[in-house]
Order: sequence, then C-alpha cells, then structure tokens
Amino acid sequence: MKKSATRTFGILTSGGDCPGLNAAIRGVAKAANQKYDMNIIGISEGYRGLIAGDARLLKPSDFSGILTQGGTILGTSREKPFKEEDNLRDSQMGRKKSDAILENYKKLQLDCLVVLGGNGTHKTACLLKQEGLNVIGLPKTIDNDIWGTDVTFGFHSAVDIATEAIDRLHSTAHSHNRVMVIELMGHKAGWLSLYAGIAGGGDVILIPEIPYSTDSICRHLLNRARLGKRFSIVVVAEGAVSRKDSSLPKSDRKKKKKNNDDLTIGYRIAKEIGESSGMETRLTVLGYQQRGGTPSPYDRLLATMFGTAAADLLYRGEYGKMIALEGTRIVTKQLEDISGRLKQVPADHHLIDTARSVGTCFGDE
Ligand code: F6P
Repeated sequence: MKKSATRTFGILTSGGDCPGLNAAIRGVAKAANQKYDMNIIGISEGYRGLIAGDARLLKPSDFSGILTQGGTILGTSREKPFKEEDNLRDSQMGRKKSDAILENYKKLQLDCLVVLGGNGTHKTACLLKQEGLNVIGLPKTIDNDIWGTDVTFGFHSAVDIATEAIDRLHSTAHSHNRVMVIELMGHKAGWLSLYAGIAGGGDVILIPEIPYSTDSICRHLLNRARLGKRFSIVVVAEGAVSRKDSSLPKSDRKKKKKNNDDLTIGYRIAKEIGESSGMETRLTVLGYQQRGGTPSPYDRLLATMFGTAAADLLYRGEYGKMIALEGTRIVTKQLEDISGRLKQVPADHHLIDTARSVGTCFGDE
C-alpha cells in the first residue's frame, strides 16, 4: 500500500452535541489507525481545546466500545475563534485565538484537522483552510440544516426521540380532550418538526419556514372538534414565527424574542390557542432529550460511513472538504461551497405536500 499522505491528524467535536458523535469518532479513528497506521490527536471541547492546546494522543482503547455511547468522549463547545469582538479582546490580551490555533496545529505536528460539527463549525473550518490548515469536516446536527448533504448524523436519532414523545401525547390528549402542544428543537430550520410531526401524526406542524397565523390554527382545531376529534397535537419548532412577527425587521424580531426569552414559542402558541379557541391546552418542551442518549441504528451506520470515508480522504491527502450524503452515495463538498449556507425546508418540499394530503395544517391557510 502506498504511503499515507497523513501521518498525524487532530479530531475535535464542536457545537451542540448529538447521538452519533462517538460513532463518527470511532469510524474515523478505527479506519485511520487500523487501515493506515495514523496517529490520532484527540482535541478537547471543540476549537476551545485547540486554542488552549488541550489535546492528547488517542489509544485504540479510547475509541473502542463507543459506537452506542451518546454525547462525545472529547467534549464540545460553541467556541468561534474568528468572531470579531472576541478576537479584538484577545489581541489586546496578547494574541488572537486564530493565531493560537495555527501555533498549536504546528506544535502538535498535525497534517490535518478533522472537525465534527454544524454550520458554525464548518464556517470556522473554511476560515482555517484559508489560513493554510488542512481540514476535513463531518456534518453533525439534530437540525439537519447543513447545506450540501441530504442528512446529518444526529438528525434521525432526534426524529426517533421526538416521534416517540408525540406518540405518547396522543393517549393523554385523547383521554382529556385536550390540545397538546409539543415544542421541538430547530431554531432556523424546521426539518426535525416536519419529519417527527408527520411520523407522529401531528395535526398542526409549525416550522420557521412557514409563518403561521393563530386564527388558521384555531380554525383547524375547532373544525376537528366539530368532526368529533376533540383532541389535537400541535408540533412547534422552537424557531417558528407568526405572520405578524415575520413582517417585522430582523432587529425588532430579535428584540421581541429577547424580551420574551422566558416565554418559549410553544408557551405563547399554547396560550394563544387556549385564549382564542377556548380549548384546553397543555405544553411539552422536549428540549435536550432530543440530543441525548444512544444513536439510532441509522445514525450509527451514517456516522460510521462518514467516519471511514474521512479516513480515506486523510490517506489520499484530499483536504478542504466536507463528507456528505447524496441519496445513498457518500460524496464530498468543498468547504467554501457550504460555509455560511443554511439548508431550510423549501416551500415546495414534497413532505409539505405529503403532510397537507393527510390533512395536516401548517398555520398558513
Ligand atoms: O444546533 C442544535 C441545537 O440543538 C438547536 O436545535 C438548539 O436550538 C441549540 O442547539 C441549543 O443550543 P445550546 O446547546 O447551546 O443550548
């Protein structure tokens, strides 16, 4: 076998954690170590560890037996090394975070940096590539909002968790003739609520991409009641926005959200439905359960596929790319092509038609 282009690489996990991170770490590390005899430097807590030089050589025992383990053995953070104000402050304290990364990359004698993360992580990865570092990205997030890949690992585990929660709400909603509102994660894109809402038989699905009107929601719920269905399930993405608020300038929306920070969107919608329709409503905010626990079998498979594909890129010296899934094929995308882009639910997405065909309301009619 010809000599590997990569002798030693660093690996870090960055951004919100999710099931599948350890499966991906295992995929990269086992393939790189066993197939290509590479050295693997585990970097703690995302880019924060690379800034601080908090890194260690991983032994095979470190990445064995972690396929089914939730979370990340490396820890994570939402550190953004190139964020302006932080950099200015750090430069006044002696050095910029990004310079510290370049120094530690050299000090650790890395040939490449493998990053597992979401949009913010890949934006930083692209900037590091422009600074001359070799970087490879693996797309991770429960939101599935990374451009360039059909799906990210973590997403289907969250869909399974959210669907199971919605299933459980049906029986208690039916017993009490209540409207059960469940708020799911997904602050910029509504993929998780769309998938789990359909899979869980949600009667109303509210996503950031389709501004809703409370009147439309209440008409739908009252019509269901008239037809004898006196209970309903309303699935709300945390980033859903009313028609009224969607017409506000972004700065006003941010201010309004800040003032309402303790009142989640789910709380506000449950309150508005109760007041406008007179129907008894209750709220469940599923929160961090969607990011916890063991990965689904699908995510174990996807994360392992992504990880082993990254090891092959390391061997061939194909840097500056993100691993992606297109259909059933593992492909790669240039970091420049995905950085800064958000994958939202298109208005004409086939799943929106599918949901409407079974009578689901999106709050827009
Ligand atoms: O980006 C994934 C995500 O889970 C979002 O869906 C959610 O809004 C956010 O992370 C929560 O961020 P944090 O973990 O910093 O509270």
